[in-house]
Amino acid sequence: MTLRDKKLLIIGSRSGIARRIAADATAAGAEVVLAGRGPDADARVDLADEDSIRALAERVGTLDHLVALGADRANGPVTELDRAAVTRAFDAKVIGPIMLAKHFAGRFRPGGSVLLFSGVAAWRPVPGRTVMAATNGAVAFLAEALAVELAPVRVNAISPGVIDSGVWDGLGDAKDAFFADTAARNPTGTVGRTEDVASAALLALANPFVTGTTLHVDGGGRLA
Ligand SMILES: NC(=O)c1ccc[n+]([C@@H]2O[C@H](COP(=O)([O-])OP(=O)(O)OC[C@H]3O[C@@H](n4cnc5c(N)ncnc54)[C@H](OP(=O)(O)O)[C@@H]3O)[C@@H](O)[C@H]2O)c1
Repeated sequence: MTLRDKKLLIIGSRSGIARRIAADATAAGAEVVLAGRGPDADARVDLADEDSIRALAERVGTLDHLVALGADRANGPVTELDRAAVTRAFDAKVIGPIMLAKHFAGRFRPGGSVLLFSGVAAWRPVPGRTVMAATNGAVAFLAEALAVELAPVRVNAISPGVIDSGVWDGLGDAKDAFFADTAARNPTGTVGRTEDVASAALLALANPFVTGTTLHVDGGGRLA
């Protein structure tokens, strides 16, 4: 159960969790290709653009593991949601990964796997986060369906809770209070760190008997 000499494609080059998975997998001896929309990516891909997914698959060739962390948010009261934003959210989390499965199926080496990213919002819905709940919930079922259809390629999902990945930095001065409140509610008494998610990701990638599973890395937040 090792990632040594395995080839990983990680999508979400500007995600803090993606960068931590890339660093930890590289330290474990894997070859990592980090793909995304930003100029810092090793390879360019837009999960809303099937042609770019097809081109990425041709460029990458064969691989061992594919990790998809794309997320685009359409938050706000359901009465005010913009349809295009809702579509972008489903493109990043649900339709994009389905297109990844379409174009990468058949490219996995023996023992290969796919790892999708869900999120605690599906299990703890709150007003204004309906799209986040729906996309993350869909990911958990997508992992089960793909685990059956792509077998023996394994397919799993990780559902993070609140993680200090950089994505919350936009809260500014309110971030500390939000983290303190979240930590107080979580059974672990903490918010998550990118290394917490990365260690679960590496386990899901390397363990040959884990498939069709959503691994909750949420400090128990979905139960609180
Ligand atoms: N951090 C948390 O508290 C938390 C909680 C629950 C779930 N999660 C999930 O964990 C994953 C990683 O989260 P994170 O906090 O590290 O960072 P994040 O900011 O949520 O990362 C999202 C990434 O998705 C990319 N993306 C969005 N739309 C895309 C598209 N159409 N094509 C390609 N890439 C696209 C973004 O790229 P650009 O930079 O190009 O926009 C960004 O790199 C996400 O799936 C997120 O939903 C995180």
